[in-house]
Amino acid sequence: MNVLVVGGGGREHAIVEALHRSHADIFAAMANQNPGIRRRSKDVLLGDVTAVERIVSWAKERAVDLAVIGPEAPLEKGISDALEAAGIPTVGPSREAAQLETNKEFTRELMRREEIPGRPQFWAFDDLGGFEEFVNDSDFEFVIKPLGLTGGKGVRVWGDHFSTKTEALAYGREVLEKKIGGTSRFLVEEKLVGEEFSLQAFCDGRTLVPMPLAQDHKRAYEGDKGPNTGGMGSYSNADHLLPFLTKQDFDQASETMTRTIQAMASRGTPFKGVLYGGFMATNEGPKLLEFNVRFADPESMNVLPICEGDFLDLCGRL
Ligand SMILES: Nc1ncnc2c1ncn2[C@@H]1O[C@H](COP(=O)(O)OP(=O)(O)O)[C@@H](O)[C@H]1O
Ligand SMILES: [Mg+2]
Repeated sequence: MNVLVVGGGGREHAIVEALHRSHADIFAAMANQNPGIRRRSKDVLLGDVTAVERIVSWAKERAVDLAVIGPEAPLEKGISDALEAAGIPTVGPSREAAQLETNKEFTRELMRREEIPGRPQFWAFDDLGGFEEFVNDSDFEFVIKPLGLTGGKGVRVWGDHFSTKTEALAYGREVLEKKIGGTSRFLVEEKLVGEEFSLQAFCDGRTLVPMPLAQDHKRAYEGDKGPNTGGMGSYSNADHLLPFLTKQDFDQASETMTRTIQAMASRGTPFKGVLYGGFMATNEGPKLLEFNVRFADPESMNVLPICEGDFLDLCGRL
């Protein structure tokens, strides 16, 4: 079976190795030469992974039977829709369903409307005056979040990235003026305190099958200090939970995700692919920080190598 894998990082290498164990013939589209992926591939297309039309026609010429999309950027560009329109079943959500990651306000509104558990309080602003009023009236710490994709560099947390109302206003102004995250609008959320964890799950549009939990180390230095990074490494545990979580926390986080895919199905935009929730374990139970609509990087490297079943067969069911 010919399988296209889009993306050239450690995450995609883990996907490629899992497919290789299922005896798939790999065709890779990536921006860089990942040597691990290169070694396993029948053919490689180098270039922009958001060049949807180029990738689709390359895959068609190579008689690709199935595609697995690694990163979020091509999903936002509608690569799943385009591949499926070309007759290639794809592990990855439609552009519409990918909004769970590409539009943080979409997710928060869905959670509010459907009363999905695990939601922090939030507000949205598109003018500085409204935000200024909020800041002057508020007496709690909050987080400023651009709506769209920022490569993990858009969110600013009170106490970590700013510590006064003046600084909050300055960043609000910057998001509006520079359209950080794609639009002149941003979210403000109550600041949650606790340990973060990642829950990835396979979804076929109706059901959700969770993978083992993992924790990512985002900060550059020891002791959770320093700037946020794309990930300094991650771990998971033999019992598939984490040392600071109970089975009940796991069940609650799964419930947040199950309710979300049910809501997506009932609005006529079913979610299929891999849904990955970034959660904070708070005193009041797990709260959702954000959804991602693809495997986590690097946490996919914790879970894919221990997948006991046939990964290719599993992908075919998504
Ligand atoms: N409501 C919140 N309270 C506290 N910290 C938050 C909150 N939302 C986000 N963060 C912190 O900011 C980081 C990035 O936010 P996230 O929502 O995951 O956006 P992105 O990954 O798109 O940058 C999180 O991993 C978490 O450390
Ligand atoms: Mg995140």
